[in-house]
Amino acid sequence: MKVENLSSRDKKYLWHPLTQHKLGRPQLPITRAKGALLFDEEGKEYIDGIASWYTVMYGHANDDIISAMSQQMQKLDFVMFSGLTHEPAIELSEKLMAILPDNQAKLFFNDNGSTAIEAAIKMSLQYFHNNGEKRDTLIAFEDGFHGDTFGAMSASGLSSYNGPFEDFLLKVVRIPVPQEDTIEEVKSTLSKILNENECAAFVFEPLVQGAAGMKFHSAEGLDALISLCQEQEVLCIADEIMTGFGKTGKNFASDHLSNKPDVICLSKALTAGMFPLSITSCSQKIYDRFLSDEVHKGFFHAHTFSAHPLGCAAALAGIELLNSPEIIERRTYIENAHNLYAGKIQNHERVKEVRVMGAILAIDLEIEMERYGSLRDELYNFFLERGVLLRPLGNTIYTLPPYVITDIQLQKIYYSITEALNTF
Ligand SMILES: Cc1ncc(COP(=O)(O)O)c(C=O)c1O
Repeated sequence: MKVENLSSRDKKYLWHPLTQHKLGRPQLPITRAKGALLFDEEGKEYIDGIASWYTVMYGHANDDIISAMSQQMQKLDFVMFSGLTHEPAIELSEKLMAILPDNQAKLFFNDNGSTAIEAAIKMSLQYFHNNGEKRDTLIAFEDGFHGDTFGAMSASGLSSYNGPFEDFLLKVVRIPVPQEDTIEEVKSTLSKILNENECAAFVFEPLVQGAAGMKFHSAEGLDALISLCQEQEVLCIADEIMTGFGKTGKNFASDHLSNKPDVICLSKALTAGMFPLSITSCSQKIYDRFLSDEVHKGFFHAHTFSAHPLGCAAALAGIELLNSPEIIERRTYIENAHNLYAGKIQNHERVKEVRVMGAILAIDLEIEMERYGSLRDELYNFFLERGVLLRPLGNTIYTLPPYVITDIQLQKIYYSITEALNTF
């Protein structure tokens, strides 16, 4: 009997995310992964230059994470988290509280990034509802990305994802991100919005807008916006789903700020890419607003797989690794290497701007490219042919590699980027 390869079997029944199946190349079947490497059906290797959407920061098939999860699996596989509790969740809450900003007091579990944002938005709306107030407006940055469920999508400002759903979204007013020279301007836009609307929450990706193309903004500016919101009790929700767990050089991007967000959303690297899990953490003041003799004032929101013990075990092992001497050394190495490479290419005729923050290196090209257009696909294929997985965002090429990437692998990513700059 003829054995079909994975690519053709894939085509039969599968529908992939962010894919126009009528166009483009077949999906690349990956059969194995270790460290920063992925291996396809034919054994060809690829360097995972974006840590599989910035999740596997300690490397694929990390032994410590595998061991923690397999021990957990044998002890307690899963129980629901309503009416029951378990040690992995309790221990994770203790370990996370030790590294989250001081004002964080309670953790609510969900199962992916979008649902962490969804819970944060619902928490904010109910926070006012429980007080007899109706606040119906959210504030968000232009070009932000917060996920694909309806609340998260409402807060997101990238039209490539929202197009068909625009008429069905929550009420959101958008502001531009603050740059060093636009802080006053954005502050006055925000003040006007705060005066003219019943604002419940300000949702933002702190310091780096990932899906927008790893775009950076001013920490001083964001601090000023948080301060304006907090003066009017508007809850500030930091979406650290991309930035969390060391990517910006500190444990959380919020650690670069003086004014701390009221709510922080975590996912992706939380479980080192090993399990879908997310957390919406909040301050005591928010939690207290849900305490009442009236049952319905509680937060009646749940996902079946909340606080899955396997995810919690992976997260606990991940936090151990995050600030281990070995990983700290690699985090510093990557940031230094990125800066050195950025210096080398900044004057290249194809480079419009190059930026580095922690493990993030982003290069805006002089060429204009559609987000999912054919030129972008050519670039994606160009890297794959060289054994490097990078997913350019519009005209931005970026890498955010696993912390465990080797020096040679990182140099290979840089080399292919330089080749692309010389070719496109
Ligand atoms: C900043 C940010 N928020 C939210 C999400 C949504 O997370 P998920 O894809 O797990 O729903 C993403 C995903 O890329 C993200 O980068």
